[in-house]
Amino acid sequence: MAVQFFDFGKLSDGRSVTAAKLTNHAGASLTVLDYGATVQALCIPDRSGKPVDVVLGYDSAVEYEKNGDYLGATIGRVGNRIGKSVFSLNGKTYELAKNDGENHLHGGKEGFDKKFWRMAAQGESLLCWRVSPDGEENYPGNLNVKVLFSLTDDNRFCITYDADTDADTLVNLTNHSYFNLNGRGDVLNHRLQLFAERFAENDGGCLPTGRLLPVEGTPFDFRTEKEIGTDIGADDEQLKRAGGYDHNYVLCGKKAAILYGPETGIEMTVETDLPGMQLYSGNFLTERKGKGGSIINRRDAACFETQLYPNAMNCYGFPSPVLRAGAHLHSETSYAFRVR
Ligand code: BGC
Repeated sequence: MAVQFFDFGKLSDGRSVTAAKLTNHAGASLTVLDYGATVQALCIPDRSGKPVDVVLGYDSAVEYEKNGDYLGATIGRVGNRIGKSVFSLNGKTYELAKNDGENHLHGGKEGFDKKFWRMAAQGESLLCWRVSPDGEENYPGNLNVKVLFSLTDDNRFCITYDADTDADTLVNLTNHSYFNLNGRGDVLNHRLQLFAERFAENDGGCLPTGRLLPVEGTPFDFRTEKEIGTDIGADDEQLKRAGGYDHNYVLCGKKAAILYGPETGIEMTVETDLPGMQLYSGNFLTERKGKGGSIINRRDAACFETQLYPNAMNCYGFPSPVLRAGAHLHSETSYAFRVR
């Protein structure tokens, strides 16, 4: 079906936000804002056929502007953390904004989540694009970024990322949707299978130390489906440091995770060509107003942020986030829904 565009209100400085809605033939829909290329709603039919909004979000543009937690946003230039907010590239040192203690998080003070993107229908998909200018948030190079959102008739929500640059730079793009397949309540009863044998050890500030630890025998082992809440309160130093799961998993292959919401019967399979995925159990979500008069609380959603490993420039052996001048980045992540 054709993409429909509509007015989503204004930011506090009067700039207008536009929403684009994609609807498929199975009764599912996806709404994306030009502000932050943000997934505002994703409605998937449950076991009775009733659409359930499976992502957290807000009803107004101003709430997104104040959004401290990146609800649904496209994250860049570099998602997740860069230790001490500094990196060296081609012999030059770049100082970045310290917006997470001493560290740099999700692209800085005004990352891609706080920028306006151009939007246009591309067939039945939605293309969002912008040029991140040389020096934006102190990253080098003019970076051309395109994010294509689509929703197929078999309820697969796909995001493809394309980028190129005119100078060597760092790129690690992701989407920060907060999923709740029950459409309400916390996610501790969601069943999760995660196809990873190792995860990145964090320091006290949720920054990978460079060590990859086996999941075997730890609360991080989701190789066999279990509830997110089963071990979240375990007496485990890594869990205690982050207040729950907030760790990068080393994926074994394309299939990253399967999540199941028991109240609706909705199951989501995450696939990606990226090597890592942050499992974030909404530990730092504080109480606030969500969509349609709902209240969002701690652990009311989980994020599956497909990515390169965080802090890669400072960790020996982590896949490099450097995008060379003239090179092209292409990456795909999909979230396929069905009812079981
Ligand atoms: C990070 C969390 C952070 C959250 C929202 C996640 O990707 O890993 O530590 O609190 O984003 O800011």
